[in-house]
Amino acid sequence: MIETLKLLKGNHLVSIMKDIISIHDFDRDQIEGVLKSAQIMERFIQGTDILEGKILATLFFEPSTRTHLSFESAMKRLGGKVIGFSESSSTSVAKGETLQDTVRITEQYSDIIVIRHPRDGAARLAAEVTSIPVINAGDGTNQHPTQTLLDLYTIQKELGNIDGLTIGMMGDLKYGRTVHSLSCALSWFDVSLQVLSPPGLELPSYITEDLMEKSIDIVEVEDMEDLSVDVLYVTRIQKERFPDLEEYEKVRGSYRITIKTLDHLGEAIILHPLPRVDEIDPEVDTTPNALYFKQAWNGVPVRMALLASALGWDQ
Ligand code: CP
Repeated sequence: MIETLKLLKGNHLVSIMKDIISIHDFDRDQIEGVLKSAQIMERFIQGTDILEGKILATLFFEPSTRTHLSFESAMKRLGGKVIGFSESSSTSVAKGETLQDTVRITEQYSDIIVIRHPRDGAARLAAEVTSIPVINAGDGTNQHPTQTLLDLYTIQKELGNIDGLTIGMMGDLKYGRTVHSLSCALSWFDVSLQVLSPPGLELPSYITEDLMEKSIDIVEVEDMEDLSVDVLYVTRIQKERFPDLEEYEKVRGSYRITIKTLDHLGEAIILHPLPRVDEIDPEVDTTPNALYFKQAWNGVPVRMALLASALGWDQ
């Protein structure tokens, strides 16, 4: 325990804001601090007791496998406990309780909240009504900041650096909150972007304009064969976000990475926040390009770092 604390303090476990709501709230130093802290956390992956006595509440109003379980795993590895729900239908939300009241009540029982919600801005709203830290685990089409931090951690761990890379983003760039957060974070680095999406699912203009303002070189490509990248970040089409399912049917299955398409990608690493539907053939999983399962694992040390920091272990 003493050794753990000395190591964390000696390495300046990053000091971040109380709430983790949007990657827009992070500057480059803070992002790099989280990545460094995650690296330190890997040494304690088998368990430590620095958050003994602390309780994490996980409020998942939308389905999740990775984010929910990796936060739970992270908290338990830090010695803390976890309460929460993964379906709001089993809570008093089903009786009409508001998000604000749900959060105010959760505050009575826990020390930190992780929330996923279908509504853009829900995590910010939650943070406004409670004095305990709130971490956004994905709000609608808006943001998924902890996913972005683990994406960057994976890139840095695998390729040694983020600066100097060309990063491709392929898939549903309109509704995918992971690419929205990632684009914003990448704008702090010296990177070039290549984007490829089915018609109508392009990156929102407010994001491309922001990237261009920050002098990020961004090129739209039309075919997978035209991509020339170090990292290819693939996303599924976010069926659940389409207001009109007929529109979804028009783009369903319109891109797929197979062993054959890997020829065009050379040694590029393939990342995917997961879940996947049909956009990466499982036969790709055993190739050296496929890093999405390692990426999912990296969610544990990154979320350990965020929980430890939000609960004050940097002070
Ligand atoms: N990447 C991600 O957010 O996965 P889950 O929806 O399973 O949490």
